[in-house]
Amino acid sequence: KKVIDTPILIIGSGYGGAVSALRLCEAGKKVVMLEMGLNWEKSGIPFSNLLKPGKSAAWLKKKTIAPFMNLFSLTPFTGTLDRLDFEHINIWVGRGVGGGSLVNGGMAVTPKESYFREVFPDLDARKFYSTYFPLVHKELKVNVIDEQFLKDCPYYQFTRVGEEEAHKAGFKTIRVPNVYDFQYMEKEYRNEVPRSALNTEVIYGNNHGKNSLDKTYLKKALETGNLEILDLHRVDHIKLNDDKTYTLNVQQTDTSGAAVADKIFNCQKLILAAGTMGTLKLLLHSHAMSQFPVHEEIGKSWGNNGNFMTGRNWVKPMSGGTGAKQSTIPVGGIDNWDDPEHPFFTEIAPLPMGMDVATALYLLINRVDKKGEVSYDAGSRKLVLDWNESHTAGMRKNADYFIKKMNRANGGTRSHFLFNNGFGADVCYHPLGGCVLGKATNEYGKLKGHDHLYILDGSLIPGTIGVNPFVTITAIAEYCIENLIRENEFA
Ligand code: FDA
Repeated sequence: KKVIDTPILIIGSGYGGAVSALRLCEAGKKVVMLEMGLNWEKSGIPFSNLLKPGKSAAWLKKKTIAPFMNLFSLTPFTGTLDRLDFEHINIWVGRGVGGGSLVNGGMAVTPKESYFREVFPDLDARKFYSTYFPLVHKELKVNVIDEQFLKDCPYYQFTRVGEEEAHKAGFKTIRVPNVYDFQYMEKEYRNEVPRSALNTEVIYGNNHGKNSLDKTYLKKALETGNLEILDLHRVDHIKLNDDKTYTLNVQQTDTSGAAVADKIFNCQKLILAAGTMGTLKLLLHSHAMSQFPVHEEIGKSWGNNGNFMTGRNWVKPMSGGTGAKQSTIPVGGIDNWDDPEHPFFTEIAPLPMGMDVATALYLLINRVDKKGEVSYDAGSRKLVLDWNESHTAGMRKNADYFIKKMNRANGGTRSHFLFNNGFGADVCYHPLGGCVLGKATNEYGKLKGHDHLYILDGSLIPGTIGVNPFVTITAIAEYCIENLIRENEFA
C-alpha cells in the first residue's frame, strides 16, 4: 500500500471542509483534502439536467434517485447526488468536490436570531450577526432576485402564484436570498448565455450561474498554492496512534466506483468535514474497526432540521397553474415561525417537470421537538437511526394545518400525486447533529477525548436551525477555525 505523510488532512469538501481549507491555507499551512466524489470541473464532464439525467445524476445507482419521478435508468457512475435510505427516512446528500453545494437549491438563509440563540445558548449571537454571517454572505456570493424580473419572468409563475395564494390564506411571505447569480439568470432569460437554472439544472449540478464552493471558498484556497484536493478518495476508517497522530485507510476509485488503489495517509491534525452522516459513519465505523475513541455524546441530538415535504394539486389550473417552465432556483418562502401553535418556515419550491402539473411543492422546515439518535451496527457496517413517525408527528400537524388553510382560501387538494398520502415525512435534505458543538466537541469543534481531531460540518448543529442550513454551517465553521488557528492548534 502506498503511504502518504501529511501534516494537516481534511476529509470532505463541503461547506465545513472548504472553510477550514481556505483559512488554514491563508495562514500558510499546507493542506490535503480527501473527497470521495469526483472533481467535476477538472473532469470536464458536464452536469445533466432533471429531464435528461446522465452521468452526474446519481452516486453509483442504476436508476435516478430524485425525490420524484424516477423513471430513468443509469449506468452507475460517481454522480453528484446520493440517497441514504433508513427505515423511516431517506437522506439526500451531495458528492463531489464542493459537497452539498453542487446539488442544493442555493437558498442562503440566515437563521432567526431568537432561534439561533435558543439552539446555541453558549455562542455570542451578536458576533455571529455582526461578523460571521456577513462574512459568509460575502464569501458565498449571496444575492437576491430583482423584483421586476421576478414579476415579468414566466419561469417564476410558480413563485408568484405561490405568494399570491399564501397571502390570500393569510400567511406572510419572504424573499429568499440565493448563491445563484441572478444577473446571470437574467442573461439566460434573454438568451445571451447558456441556460442552467432555466434549463432544469440543479440537483444533478449546475453548469452555469451557481456559485457553488468550487467557485468560491475552494477556488480561493487553491489559489494560495497550499491546498491539494484528491478526488475519488474515500476514507474507510481512521486509527488513533500511540503518538496521537492518525492513520487513515483510504480507497481510491475510478468513476464506476471500482477500487484502483488502497492508500494509507498519516497525519498530525485531522479535520472531519464529511457532512453529518459521513462524519458519524467515519467515527462510529472507526470505533468498531480499531477501538477509535468516541465520546458518549456522539450520535446524540440528531435531527432532520424539521424537513417535511408536502404539496397541493390543481393549483389555479384555469389561470395557467404553476407554469410549464420553471426556474430551478427557489426565491420565495412562507414565514409562519411566530405562530406559537404552528411555527414553521416553508420554501415555495419549484417542480420543473417540463409541463404544467398544476402542483405546488413545499419543503417545510419545522422545530425538532423530539431529537433522534445515530448508532452503528457492526454486523451490517451501517448506521442505525433512531427516528420514526413519533419524531415527525408535530411536523405533520403543521403541514396538515398549512395545506388545509391554503386549500380553504384557494381551492386544491393535498397532493397524492407527489407523495403516498400527500405527506413526505421521509424526505430529508438537511441532516444535522450527532457531534454537537460544546457537547461532543469543545467550544470550537475539537472532538472530546482527542488532541488533534476537529469536527467542522453540519453535525455540530443540534438537529435543527429553523431555516435551510448551509449559511449557518459555514458561519460556525468560520468561527471554529478562526479560534482553532488563534489557539495555535495547527502550529
Ligand atoms: P457536505 O455534505 O456538503 O460535504 C461533505 C463531503 O464529504 C461530501 O462531498 C462527501 O462526498 C464527502 N465525504 C463523505 N464521506 C467521505 C469519506 N468517507 N471519504 C471522503 N469523502 C467523504 N441547504 C441550504 O442551506 N439551502 C438549500 O437550498 C439547500 N438545498 C438542498 C438540496 C438538496 C437536494 C440537498 C441534498 C441538500 C440541500 N441543502 C440546502 C443542504 C446543504 O447542502 C447541506 O446542509 C450542506 O451541504 C452540508 O454541509 P457539510 O459541510 O456538513 O457537508
